[in-house]
Amino acid sequence: MINALRGMKDILSPENEKYIYFLENSARLAKNYGFEYIETPILEETMLFKRSVGESSDIVGKEMYEFVDKGGNNVCLRPEGTAGVVRAFIQHKFDRILGVKRYYYYGPMFRYERPQKGRLREFHQFGVECFGESNPYEDVNIILLLKDILDFFGINYTLKINSLGCQKCLPPFREVLVKHLQDIEDGLCDDCKRRIKTNPIRVFDCKNENCQSLLKDAPRLGSSLCKECDESFNFVKNKLDELGIKYEVDSNLVRGLDYYTKTAFEFVSGELGAQNAVAGGGRYDRLVEFLDGKPTSGIGFAIGIERLLELIKLPEKEKEGYYFGAMDEEAISLIFKLGNLYKKMGKTEVSYQKKSLKAHLKAADKKGMRYCAVIGENELAQKSIWIKDLVEKKEKFISLKEFEKDV
Ligand code: HAM
Repeated sequence: MINALRGMKDILSPENEKYIYFLENSARLAKNYGFEYIETPILEETMLFKRSVGESSDIVGKEMYEFVDKGGNNVCLRPEGTAGVVRAFIQHKFDRILGVKRYYYYGPMFRYERPQKGRLREFHQFGVECFGESNPYEDVNIILLLKDILDFFGINYTLKINSLGCQKCLPPFREVLVKHLQDIEDGLCDDCKRRIKTNPIRVFDCKNENCQSLLKDAPRLGSSLCKECDESFNFVKNKLDELGIKYEVDSNLVRGLDYYTKTAFEFVSGELGAQNAVAGGGRYDRLVEFLDGKPTSGIGFAIGIERLLELIKLPEKEKEGYYFGAMDEEAISLIFKLGNLYKKMGKTEVSYQKKSLKAHLKAADKKGMRYCAVIGENELAQKSIWIKDLVEKKEKFISLKEFEKDV
């Protein structure tokens, strides 16, 4: 027997219904905020992620599904959605046009991680990216959209925010941090030792308790921000306060992707276990330029759909539509015809098997249909159809002519 690969899942009932319910409503909310749909390829040049997510990140360093294709190109399955959207934005020259562009997208992402609850190798994200708006109002707007989406689904969460600085304040901070880390290097885990050389601020994200206790006295970027980053971060915090949106400033929030600048945020849930980040995002004002576009600011987020589905409850489903069944071999062609007519009106189920009335009623109920319409020997003789409303518990016979007229 061939099974799906480790860390990859089929989306079956009841997750499939939740999945569609989530996508439809998130897309609706994103459209309300002025975002338009974009779809980019799942397979991209490996270099795109090396130059954006960063070679020192775990995602690029350890987790990429990377291979050389038949044409000799080094390609990989996308580990995240932002880089592809930025590539498309530049490729189609939107960076040369003044104005703001907003996109939303969803689809599969691939990371060769160690699978565990809430951590898959193929998972799905719903994300948004906004280009050309450097005003920190947009940071608040993006956080608001994410909050609206999570609120719509009744999710309990904590919003964590931090500022990751810019090219002015990050490099001098990094130097100070490296000096501090070199002093405590002996006690740090191997990953953190490596990070001192590759990407020192990522040490704050280390899950090792010993590293965290050693980092207690480490300098924090929050107190070394330049005037512009500081003002921008204060603006975001003040606006969130004004809007009554609760948040925690988390100086350990450094995100796992290297492209961030200024505001970074995550929505975490206490109901998910170790993998508690439902969504994350932030500003990436230098990424378009890094990928050879004209300098354009950017900001966005992505929701981990599988993690969110764990937390979503589907609303009570109302019974709807018609179930058509035959109790007589001869009636099957008739219900096939009626079913085809009704499909244009609403949800329809047609059973092409001759069954007893009881069996048809049971099947209609199981499928969540409102009406069970059945033709048996009597109905055939009288050119009529028997219909039961499974909500009102009322039944009637009507002539086929009348039924077809109503449809
Ligand atoms: P990320 O934080 O790497 O950000 O991923 C976003 C979300 O995807 C996470 O919060 C989590 O819910 C989900 N996720 C990540 N890895 C896995 C996994 N292995 N299994 C299941 N779910 C997972 C990004 O990907 C950025 N592109 C977000 C962004 C958009 N930043 C700006 N624009």
